[in-house]
Amino acid sequence: MQEKKDMYILGIESSCDETSASIVKNGTEEISTVISSQIDIHKDFGGVVPEIASRHHVKNITMVLEECLTQANMTMDDIDAIAITYGPGLIGSLLIGLEAAKTLAFLYKKPLIPVHHIAGHIYANSLVRPLKFPLLALVVSGGHTELIEMTDHYKFQKLGGTLDDAIGECFDKVARVIGLEYPGGPKLDKLAQIGKHTYKLPIPLHDDSYNFSFSGLKSAVINLAHNEEQRGRELNKEDLATSFQTVAVESLISKTRKAIKEKNIKYLIVAGGVAANKSLRREIEKLGEETNIEVSIPPMKYCTDNATMIAAAGYYAYLDGRKADLTLNSTSSAVLK
Ligand code: KG4
Ligand code: ZN
Repeated sequence: MQEKKDMYILGIESSCDETSASIVKNGTEEISTVISSQIDIHKDFGGVVPEIASRHHVKNITMVLEECLTQANMTMDDIDAIAITYGPGLIGSLLIGLEAAKTLAFLYKKPLIPVHHIAGHIYANSLVRPLKFPLLALVVSGGHTELIEMTDHYKFQKLGGTLDDAIGECFDKVARVIGLEYPGGPKLDKLAQIGKHTYKLPIPLHDDSYNFSFSGLKSAVINLAHNEEQRGRELNKEDLATSFQTVAVESLISKTRKAIKEKNIKYLIVAGGVAANKSLRREIEKLGEETNIEVSIPPMKYCTDNATMIAAAGYYAYLDGRKADLTLNSTSSAVLK
């Protein structure tokens, strides 16, 4: 019998402010990854400026792709397929990666695999250990807050998501109120480790759904900061950070707990940039013990946006028969299915 051939997938990601290319073998083994981050460029504006992000993707994409192949000591002839994030994200940014992927697929006659960005975040976990089903994924990033159930590879069911702000977006906005530079999430997390939960803040969307809402919590922090300023009282930044983080994390945990119990979940994974949050990691581990299920949180390098996760997801998408032709378009609000 002929041995199954290894499959090398070139992944490309450009949905927000990271231009990234990566080669992954059989969906699990990272061969090389290059990420060009624009954080320092957008820092001065307090957030990602879409027009500037697109321009930098244009400037960086060729270099990133060349460097990725060089690091792997491979040429396009060694690549079996190209996986591309087609959405969701910033449309001007997505299109740069998409055009590069389509050009390479056309020139080198390679299959083109469309990958949803959230599928990428979920499959980042398969770079660490194989996924097990039924699985629950808590996806928490600057643009997403979602609970996704998976009964098998590429069988997604969205249970709920944020009705307004994403959790990372909320962290960054609250951090700005406290006077921390963009992206403030990790800096707020640091402060929260030394403060106390003293400020009373509203519990977000304490209902029977799997949805989240963070805009009320964000507004409450902004109002609190204004009121304290008007009264001439100094804000205790550490305590406010702890109070906010405790309430925000508890909201994520309570909806995740509900889904684990009601959906008979066996495996919980956390994905996205906010998975780096120390309190969230701690509480997720505790939740795993409480509900007696296995928990996986990928290492930081796979949590923030990268093309490794896109190449990994691309492998399973390919096995699921998902291929695109050159008419593939980017969609800023693509639905995971
Ligand atoms: O997944 P990601 O790199 O990009 C998106 O797809 O959005 O996530 C970035 C987000 C930012 O909002 C950042 O502030 C947040 O993740 N973040 C954190 C922490 N580290 C990154 N938020 C809270 N605590 C952290 N330790
Ligand atoms: Zn992301």
